[in-house]
Formats: sequence, structure tokens, C-alpha cells
Amino acid sequence: MTVQTTPGQPPAEEARAALVALRNEVAKAVVGQEETVTGLVVALLCRGHVLLEGVPGVAKTLLIRTVAAALSLDHKRTQFTPDLMPGDVTGSLVYDSRTAKFEFHEGPVFTNLFLADEINRTPPKTQAALLEAMEERQVTIEGEPRPLADPFVVAATQNPVEYEGTYPLPEAQLDRFLLKLVVSLPQRGEEIDMLNRHAAGFDPSDLEAAGVRPVAGAAELRAAREAVTGVRVAPEVLAYIVDICRATRASPSLQLGASPRGTTALLRTSRAWAWLSGRDYVTPDDVKALARVTLRHRVALRPEAELEGATADGLLDGVLAAVQVPR
Ligand SMILES: Nc1ncnc2c1ncn2[C@@H]1O[C@H](COP(=O)(O)OP(=O)(O)OP(=O)(O)O)[C@@H](O)[C@H]1O
Ligand SMILES: [Mg+2]
Repeated sequence: MTVQTTPGQPPAEEARAALVALRNEVAKAVVGQEETVTGLVVALLCRGHVLLEGVPGVAKTLLIRTVAAALSLDHKRTQFTPDLMPGDVTGSLVYDSRTAKFEFHEGPVFTNLFLADEINRTPPKTQAALLEAMEERQVTIEGEPRPLADPFVVAATQNPVEYEGTYPLPEAQLDRFLLKLVVSLPQRGEEIDMLNRHAAGFDPSDLEAAGVRPVAGAAELRAAREAVTGVRVAPEVLAYIVDICRATRASPSLQLGASPRGTTALLRTSRAWAWLSGRDYVTPDDVKALARVTLRHRVALRPEAELEGATADGLLDGVLAAVQVPR
């Protein structure tokens, strides 16, 4: 069926085809990591932000750059160092001696896709400035609000192996990220494929030469987002989402279960996923498919469970297996 959109916008069907084609486009530069690409598309459709977890060198930066190029979006990257100030992220007023006035110099958040690299290396004050911009979609300097771009998606990276000298995000701030995507190490075959490309002259700094072309843009994203809001959710599927989140709160291995914000996040991501899959209604399988990435950073394991080797993903799998699925 065709979804109606406002005149002047590309039909939603075309937008969907373009977003599905995005995967092939990104694959011209990045080997594998399909789940991360899909997660970024879901975030763009939901106007949400993502946490990217992965050790150094697994193509987190390359992935963001490629997605931005394939969607003709602007992107910026900032390394979150211990001395980064809030104004280095949001922007600040700078005195211009020629005009004798203060001019606002936009910080790197004034972009579509913002890669906040190693967010936990920066002290809480600067983290808070970014989180505020994420939540409010604007930056307020000297009482004057300045709206950020649309779309505006933050991809914040965290290195899972370094704890020394870092400032882990508190639970309340993790909850503000729509998804947590894990950028994993490549399989052996994928790594060989990657090396073959490099041997054949692939240059990660030249995406155009790699053949990456824009397959969609802001207009398609707008049409897609509008179509996603028309995706129906049956009462029993809605209740299923609630039951999953409630089950995390009752789990004896967790000291913190998913918040009600987590419940709404799972509804949003499931809808976007259903639409990307070509449906205008959400199935329990859509909910299952998105539960891990949507909830894994919103639950906190008890130290005992962690010592026994439990993981958030493993617990969520257990919850999904236990909660009764509507039919
Ligand atoms: N899956 C992959 N496909 C293609 N190239 C890859 C892949 N993984 C790593 N590479 C290569 O490794 C390089 C390093 O990737 P990149 O700088 O994007 O990593 P990163 O995860 O951002 O690292 P860091 O955490 O240090 O910032 C890429 O430029 C690319 O050449
Ligand atoms: Mg990087």
C-alpha cells in the first residue's frame, strides 16, 4: 500500500527504497557492520541519538562519514578530551573588533550527524552541554536560543576497554540515547575482504573515489519520518512492549530496569523498523528485533550478576524468552 505524504515531498515508498539502498552504498566503503548502519537509519527516522561502542579501529568514524555522504548530510566530528569546554561543543560568543560586537561562532553540534568521539573522556560539564543540545535540539547562549539542524543525530562513541581517567555517563544520561549499537570486530572473511580493497587502492579518505553516492537526502528523510508516524500498533503489541520493560524491572539480576522513557523508545524504534521492513503495522517480531539495541544501555546489572558473567544482552534475551508473545 502507498502511504500518503504532503505534496512536494517524495512519496514514502521512494524514501523507503532509498533508505534500503543506503546499506549497499555504505558497503562500498565499509565491510560488514550492517546492524550499525540500520541502527543509524532507525535513529534518523526517530530523531534519536545513538551510543556507539567499539574498540579503536573498527571503522566507527568511517561509518559515520560514509552514512553522511550517502544521505547528503553534513557531519562533524569532535574528540572529547579532558580539557574540552562546553563552548567547544555548542559554540560561543566571540568579540569582533571590527564591528565592536559579539558574534556567535557555531560549535560542531550545528550539523546533521555529529560524531562525539570518546564522550566519556570529557568531564561531566561538557557532557552535560552536549546532552542538553541533544534533548532540546537547540543551544542557548546568553539567553538566546539557537535551533540546531534537522536532522540532528549525535553518535557518541565509547571505548569499552578503557576505564582509566574516564567519566562514565550516569544512568540518567544513558537513558537519553535512543539506541546503543555495538561495532564489533570483523569476521575473518570480512577482514580479508577489507584488506583486499586496501590492496586494490581503496582510500578511506576519498569516499567519492570509492563510488559512494548520495542515495537520499533530507527530503526523503522527512517523508520517511512522516510515514513512520502512520505505522499502526495494535493494543496487544503495545502491551507486549510494556510487559518486556516491566519484566526488566522485576529481574533479580538487574539493579535498574528499563524506564518508561525506555518503553516509549521501544515503541518508536519498533515502528521505524516495521516501516523499513515494508509494513504499516508493528509485529511482536519487530519489537523483539529492536529490544536489545533499544534497552541494553538502560538496564544496569547487579555487581554479583556481572561477576558471574551476565551481560545486558543475555538478560534481555532471557526476558524476551520469558514474556508471553501476543498472537
Ligand atoms: N569494516 C571495515 N571496513 C572497511 N574498512 C575498515 C573496516 N574496519 C576498519 N577499517 C579500516 O580501518 C580504518 C580505521 O577506521 P576508523 O578510523 O573509522 O576507526 P574508528 O573505529 O573510528 O577508530 P577510533 O576508535 O580510533 O577512532 C579505516 O579507515 C579503514 O581503512
Ligand atoms: Mg574514530
